[in-house]
Amino acid sequence: MSQVKDKSNVVETEERLQIVRLASDRQKRQSTKANAGRDVAIGLSKTPKSLPPQYFYDDRGSELFEQICSLPEYYPTRTEAEILRQYAGEIAGIIGKCELVELGSGSSTKTRLLLEAFLDGGHSLLYVPVDVSGKILEESARKLGADYPSLQVRGLVGTYEEALTQMQPSPWPSRTVVFLGSSLGNFAPEQCDRFFEQMTTVLEPGDYFLLGIDLQKPKDIMEAAYNDSQGTTAEFNLNMLAHLNWRFGGNFDLSLFYHQAIYNESKSRIEMHLHCKQTHTVYLESLDFKVEFSKGESILTEISRKFNVETMQQYLEARGLKLVRAFTDPQQWFGLLLCQV
Ligand code: AVJ
Repeated sequence: MSQVKDKSNVVETEERLQIVRLASDRQKRQSTKANAGRDVAIGLSKTPKSLPPQYFYDDRGSELFEQICSLPEYYPTRTEAEILRQYAGEIAGIIGKCELVELGSGSSTKTRLLLEAFLDGGHSLLYVPVDVSGKILEESARKLGADYPSLQVRGLVGTYEEALTQMQPSPWPSRTVVFLGSSLGNFAPEQCDRFFEQMTTVLEPGDYFLLGIDLQKPKDIMEAAYNDSQGTTAEFNLNMLAHLNWRFGGNFDLSLFYHQAIYNESKSRIEMHLHCKQTHTVYLESLDFKVEFSKGESILTEISRKFNVETMQQYLEARGLKLVRAFTDPQQWFGLLLCQV
């Protein structure tokens, strides 16, 4: 069941528990030197300026994201968990014994509902969580191993792309790729197409795809979820600048920016902005990159698209993913789509 040929990348080996680093450290150092931060310079050179959302997630950012998930205004996490609590048994019953690959597993909190349903149903399982944060992945893999003695875990540290392009055919009766939290909403349409091209190459006929999507709803509910009253989302958004300062020797003054999230009706998406309060220059030393900001301009740090079940069903079916069942909450705020190749 080895998915990666180079055994030196297997960090931890027990019968039931493995962590594999997808890019070797040498590769990482080289790419760090050559390319790191290029995306930052490119985004900040655009009009309007933008930054890639991956820079939210340093250690502090991951902590703030966990806090966002339990904010009263941030409905997606608890609504998706509610759907899973109600339907995980049914989902596990349909899929049966499988290899379960989760993209962006984080702390795997919601996934436990799913894992338990499989194990309770007597279906043996290989759980393959994929996350860029090795720290979170190792911690949660160890806890899962301890809590579920019959579960096999094989964690992959890397990007979705690395995981999907390096994955070998599964020896299990079927494979299920799980993509929760409406993280798909971070992708612009072209990135979304590319993601599905890669994703469907690791699936074979009969395999499953379980997708969580945030659904369109009144604008005030969505805007409140991204402009919470405690200011946690604002801190999360501004933390990206602190991360860039630390990572690339920058001198962003966080007090010269403020957070705002707005719903763009025509594109059905939340846009997270950092607005600049006064004209000034920022320098990122290790990128040797200087950028001018003028008062009132903003940086787009994230998009979070909001979907509609019928449109998504057509999109999925055009890519060979047939909708088996769509699960939702009573208010229809969030959708969980189970598809089969
Ligand atoms: C992790 C991308 C699903 O878009 O709702 C939460 C990230 N940003 N609050 C989302 C996020 C601000 C979240 N995703």
